Amino acid sequence: MAAERIVLVAASGLARETLVAIRAAGEYDVAGILDDDQSLHGSVIDGARVLAGIDGAGWLDNVRPLVCVGLGRGREKVVSRLDRQGIPQSQYATIVDPSVRVPDNCSVGYGSILLAGVVLTTCVNLGRHVVAMPQTTFTHDDVVDDYATFAAGVSLGGGVEIARGAYLGMNSSVRQKVRVGEGSTLGMGSVLLQDLPPGEIWAGVPARSLPGPHRLFDELTLAHSKEAS
Ligand SMILES: CC(C)(COP(=O)(O)OP(=O)(O)OC[C@H]1O[C@@H](n2cnc3c(N)ncnc32)[C@H](O)[C@@H]1OP(=O)(O)O)[C@@H](O)C(=O)NCCC(=O)NCCS
Repeated sequence: MAAERIVLVAASGLARETLVAIRAAGEYDVAGILDDDQSLHGSVIDGARVLAGIDGAGWLDNVRPLVCVGLGRGREKVVSRLDRQGIPQSQYATIVDPSVRVPDNCSVGYGSILLAGVVLTTCVNLGRHVVAMPQTTFTHDDVVDDYATFAAGVSLGGGVEIARGAYLGMNSSVRQKVRVGEGSTLGMGSVLLQDLPPGEIWAGVPARSLPGPHRLFDELTLAHSKEAS
């Protein structure tokens, strides 16, 4: 039986990394990439052709889309656009690198991406369109809401809750039973010892709210999202 086809949405660094996992798993044929940047159309990125813009008619018939925007807010915007094209959540691919073991008592939602070396110990629940970059470690009873993003090397203690769209920077760690609020950011290398409220950017050891004005990810554009992936 022929393999199902997958289309990646956003010609990002995350898309390139995900291509490696898709090919290693061997479950899908890669039909190509959709991206609104017209200058990329027709070009080939790591062996995958950029076909058209996101709203291009017909490209998503009989394929499984996978949104590869690096930041959760950007993924959510793209999924909303695809919702309007009638793409049901169950049509999205879920990509798990073959090096990752997902125990039976864990769950991974539609559209999520787990790259090489991610660990789920036991009773871990990951929502939809979650991205876990290499070597992220989830431990017992962690609960991760939709559109959360984990850069390489993040470690969560047991019973941690990560709310929708939160972003955890490279090699940050979170104490057990702590909650990261909706849309919040934890800086790379940070150690989070207490709950991080929604919509804030914290960093450092121990992590604290960053002083002075700073950008919330809500305000970032899709283009920036691709840079950060
Ligand atoms: C936390 C973060 C989002 C802040 O970005 P920003 O809003 O552009 O902030 P700035 O770089 O202007 O820094 C603001 C202040 O916070 C400090 N700071 C920034 N990131 C920090 C971090 N991770 N740990 C400690 N302090 C940090 C800066 O030194 C600066 O301090 P100052 O005002 O005393 O000079 C960013 O530094 C970060 O860690 N991003 C995650 C990167 C990552 O994991 N990328 C993976 C890509 S796959």
